Amino acid sequence: MATVLRYSPDELKTIREYFGGKRPVKMPDQALAESIRRENPGLVPFLRMSDEKDLFAKLQSDPRIRKFSFVMFFPVLEGHLDSDLREVTISIGPTRTRGFAARILVDDRDMIIKPIQSPDEPKIAKFAGEQGIGPLQYETIEHFLTEEFLPGSPFSQISSNMNDVAARVIGSRVADILTILHKAGIVFNDVILDDDMGGSHLLIDPANGIKLIDFGVSLDLTAFPNLTDEQVYRVLLTMPGIGALIQSGMIGDTALEVEIARMKEEIGIKPIRELLFTDVRFVHEGVGITSMKNNMAAQAIWRAFEAKYHME
Ligand SMILES: Nc1ncnc2c1ncn2[C@@H]1O[C@H](COP(=O)(O)OP(=O)(O)O)[C@@H](O)[C@H]1O
Ligand SMILES: [Mg+2]
Repeated sequence: MATVLRYSPDELKTIREYFGGKRPVKMPDQALAESIRRENPGLVPFLRMSDEKDLFAKLQSDPRIRKFSFVMFFPVLEGHLDSDLREVTISIGPTRTRGFAARILVDDRDMIIKPIQSPDEPKIAKFAGEQGIGPLQYETIEHFLTEEFLPGSPFSQISSNMNDVAARVIGSRVADILTILHKAGIVFNDVILDDDMGGSHLLIDPANGIKLIDFGVSLDLTAFPNLTDEQVYRVLLTMPGIGALIQSGMIGDTALEVEIARMKEEIGIKPIRELLFTDVRFVHEGVGITSMKNNMAAQAIWRAFEAKYHME
């Protein structure tokens, strides 16, 4: 077996700092970038640290980069970095809004690494993991989440065959989850139960329970009514009407700034309840979609949800 390249703690630190946004990006000249794009796509993310000549050359000669790219430098793989990584299964795929997610299987641990979508996300995801309402969060590189891959079926895939009992359990669990989040001043802001595309952020697993995934547009309202522009942007992003316009790129930067300023003022005079209510509206919409496939279950979910959910 060929010897495996080793990285010193300093080298690891340097790499992680580049990916964690702690060092200025320094791209190489066009020609080198082009040839790397052609010959070794796994190396492309490292182009930003082309200034680190020795380290870059080392990465270039590391055969594992081809398959694992920068994912191999995440803390959860540190114990395996002195091996050929043959024990590690990885699949990297595109996602709807974040760009990509990498699924990693090692030592019976099933994990996901994905870029964060907002400055609030790491804190909210950590809270959700601790509360048992979202995936556990592991040590990571800043600007990325490394989390437990939750087994289970998306609600949207089982809603059509669901009986009354299961429906009540789910409705009541969703109410509990939202109550926990709302008490902590968090709006999930993306409670997709069932959507037209068959997607869902609610995962149902008999052994592991019922949990939410994807806190990408969730809002930490602990500073309410003082929200940052970026937070107000997330409020707008999931609002009926304007949200769809923003998501489809139909609103120009100037118009968006005006909307953000207007919404910021509006939020200043609103009770927090109205922002939290976004999640209830999402649940109601999801139940509406479910009712077209399984009206009995949809009614049972909504009744159980309403009976259990409390917003002070
Ligand atoms: N922790 C996780 N456990 C199980 N599946 C996940 C997890 N994180 C992401 N996924 C899967 O990957 C998809 C995309 O991830 P997500 O965080 O929703 O990104 P995006 O916002 O780009 O859709 C999810 O809809 C889900 O199917
Ligand atoms: Mg998603």
